[in-house]
Amino acid sequence: MPAMSAETLATARSAYADKGWFVAPDPLRPDALDKVRESMRALSGTVRPEVVYEEGTRTVRALHGCHRYDEVCAELVRHPTLLDLAEGLIGGPVYLYQFKVNIKSPRQGQEWPWHQDYAFWAHEDGMPTCDAVNIALNIDDVHEANGPLTVLTGSHRVGLVEAAGSGAKAGRDWRDHVSAKLTHTVPEEEVKALTGTFPPEQLLGPAGTVTAFHPSIIHSSTNNTSDDRRAMLVLTYNSVTNVPTHSTRPAFLVDPDTTPVQRLENALA
Ligand code: SIN
Ligand code: MN
Repeated sequence: MPAMSAETLATARSAYADKGWFVAPDPLRPDALDKVRESMRALSGTVRPEVVYEEGTRTVRALHGCHRYDEVCAELVRHPTLLDLAEGLIGGPVYLYQFKVNIKSPRQGQEWPWHQDYAFWAHEDGMPTCDAVNIALNIDDVHEANGPLTVLTGSHRVGLVEAAGSGAKAGRDWRDHVSAKLTHTVPEEEVKALTGTFPPEQLLGPAGTVTAFHPSIIHSSTNNTSDDRRAMLVLTYNSVTNVPTHSTRPAFLVDPDTTPVQRLENALA
């Protein structure tokens, strides 16, 4: 499979720098997606700390660090459709910092309040700069009612926007980083003030859609009010020159293995 063309890469870099997000021209192929779905189904039935539930229920909210214990997920990290985009946007070798699948079950999947991912990585882990990128893969069709990601387009350019003393909350239970009650959020009044300049946009698209989004972009998602599941997988690739300095979080949230990811030449599909 050829790497991204120079023209596509230039388009991606310029859109990403301006808007803070970019939809890749090529989706992940359906046969590869099916393998990932099958792994997700099997992992969702296992009992381990990596499997997180909606509060007070046995409904799976998210799976974490799956690349560390599932072969299909490990291969997905190396898939050219995802890795080439990550390397292209970072501009050099990357390692996998975080792997998660946020599942959002029909009628039960809960919200993600307004936040910036880099607030967690800076405060909790000591990631030196925001030289990392989220590559999101829609596992299901994502529409207005199943809890799509909403971003404030361009807001990554503002830097971290936080409630006073937000950094002091660092080091709390890691479960507060993956539940509907997040530790590091962007206050509603700040979001309101910023929407004039940075318009909210929903990232919709069919299963297989691949979208890069910036660590500092302000984003949220609502409860799933529909009968359709909205599973979204997010791989966070970090520059090998941007390794966190003091993370104490579990390895399934912050991978201690900083070996550069090698491209899979015989991709999953
Ligand atoms: C979501 O799954 O809707 C939220 C993902 C994220 O905040 O990174
Ligand atoms: Mn996030």
